Parts: sequence; C-alpha cells; structure tokens
Amino acid sequence: MIKKCLFPVAGYGTRFLPATKSMPKEMLPIVNKPLVQYGVEEALDAGLYEIGFVTGRGKRAINDHFDTNYELEKEIAGSGKEELLTGIRDVINRGTFSTTRQREMAGLGNAILTGQTLIGDEPFGVVLADDLCFGEGPGVLSQMVELYKQFRCTIVAIQEVPSDQIEKFGVIAGEQIREDVFRVTDMVEKPKAEDAPSNLAIIGRYILTPDIFDIIRDTPAGKNGEVQITDALLTQAKRGAVMAYKFKGRRYDCGSIQGFIDATNYCYENIYQG
Ligand code: UTP
Repeated sequence: MIKKCLFPVAGYGTRFLPATKSMPKEMLPIVNKPLVQYGVEEALDAGLYEIGFVTGRGKRAINDHFDTNYELEKEIAGSGKEELLTGIRDVINRGTFSTTRQREMAGLGNAILTGQTLIGDEPFGVVLADDLCFGEGPGVLSQMVELYKQFRCTIVAIQEVPSDQIEKFGVIAGEQIREDVFRVTDMVEKPKAEDAPSNLAIIGRYILTPDIFDIIRDTPAGKNGEVQITDALLTQAKRGAVMAYKFKGRRYDCGSIQGFIDATNYCYENIYQG
C-alpha cells in the first residue's frame, strides 16, 4: 500500500564539523554501519522498498553505499571478510534506490517538496536518518504503516521530551484519541519551553499523504528563513487530519554528539554482533 520512502539527506550536518566537511553526516557509522543504512533497513522492514534520496553536493558516498562495489567484491571474494558485506548486499537486493538533488538547503519542507519527482501522487514514508530509532518489536515505520491503514491520513511520530530540550523540536498540541494517538490541533516549530503547547515533540519519522506537496509549495519560509515542514503539517491538520503517534521504542538524535555517543554505546552493547 505504501511503497516509497524518502530520505532527505541534503543537510550540511554542521554540528558534526569537521567530520562532515567532505563526508555526509548520514554516512557516520554507529559501530560499523552508517546511519543511513539503519534507516533504510527500517523502511525495507516496513515494506517500503522504493527508496528515494534527496541529496545535495558532497553526498555521493550515500549513492555509492547502496550500489555494488565490484573492485571490493572481487578483492575479498572467498575470504573470511566477505560475510561483512552480507548485510548491505541484502539491503541492495531488497530495495530500489533513486536520487534527486536539492539545489539549496532551504529546509526540510523544501527537501521533501524536491522529492515529489520520486514520489508522485501516493502516500509515502519519510525518514530522517540522523534520528536513529529502535522499535520495541516492529520498527517505528512498521508501527506507523499499521496506523496508516486505520487512519489513512498523515502520521507524525512523537516522543515526550524534557522541557529543557523542547526548543530543538516541532511540538504538537492534540486531542488524545487513544493511549498512543493524538489528533493534531496545533504545531509549533522550536518553541521556547514556556510557549510549548505540550511536551510531545515530532521526531524524524513521517507518513505523508501527497497533498502535502501543494501545501508545502504554498507555505512561506518560516523560522530561519526555511520552509518548515511543521508549518505545512499544521495546514494539513487544519484542512483534514494529521495524527501524532507515540511510537514504541527508543530514539537517538545522532545529529548531536551526545546522541551519537549514546547510540553507539547502545548499539555496541545490544545490537552489534561482532
Ligand atoms: P537537520 O537540521 O537535523 O540537519 O535536518 P542538518 O542541517 O544537516 O544538521 P546541522 O543542524 O547543520 O548539524 C534534518 C534532516 O533534514 C535534512 C538533513 O539532511 C537531515 O537529515 N535536510 C535539512 C535536507 O535534506 N535539506 C535541508 O535543506 C535541510
């Protein structure tokens, strides 16, 4: 039903300079796997096999990662190291990978609009790969696809965050319709703690219906002069419905040093099989 997943990966990753000066932030490894591969695996596990990257300058390594490296394959064929490529080979075989480029870093809303050419007129997933998510049971996108089957509208993943963190996020106000589902009534991008409508912050997983593209096109630049997806989502919520889903699992903001370190420790102790 939902087949496509968009990965906006054009950002500069300035919080990780100088590591990200010539290397995409999304290729930073958590233990031995790049961030973006975790996200792609989550999308594939949710049945979203058509992967679209919105890239920018200096992001070629992402495309190369999801393609065969013949020289390397030949070099290690038959050796004990071959099995280290099994995981990524499997990912490459399960999905298709397409790319379009965002010409200027005009914000997440603009990046998603740039991806319209890869998506067309159907509902789709969005993964911000620097938000590394581990679902309790099924992955977070899989949980959201299940919810989409019920509500058939845009769904954003949310998480409770402490008040000293709230100004890093888009924050929702909503009418609670289930223990873990809110119908969105308001959204504010990066509010000050005292202005935040709740402690429910939007994280980097979305299922969007395609009417979002026209809405983004009509959305003026907001905070920081960027087209904010939060502003477009609020319009969508007011015209129809947007659901916010408190996912089951954990999330690490790997675009920040602390989140990156925490994710690395968690993965090394709980997920990495060396
Ligand atoms: P972030 O703000 O977390 O990423 O955007 P950033 O700008 O790369 O990071 P810093 O703040 O400079 O360290 C969230 C996601 O949206 C993508 C980013 O690549 C990231 O995955 N993005 C953001 C775009 O693709 N295009 C944009 O214009 C902005």
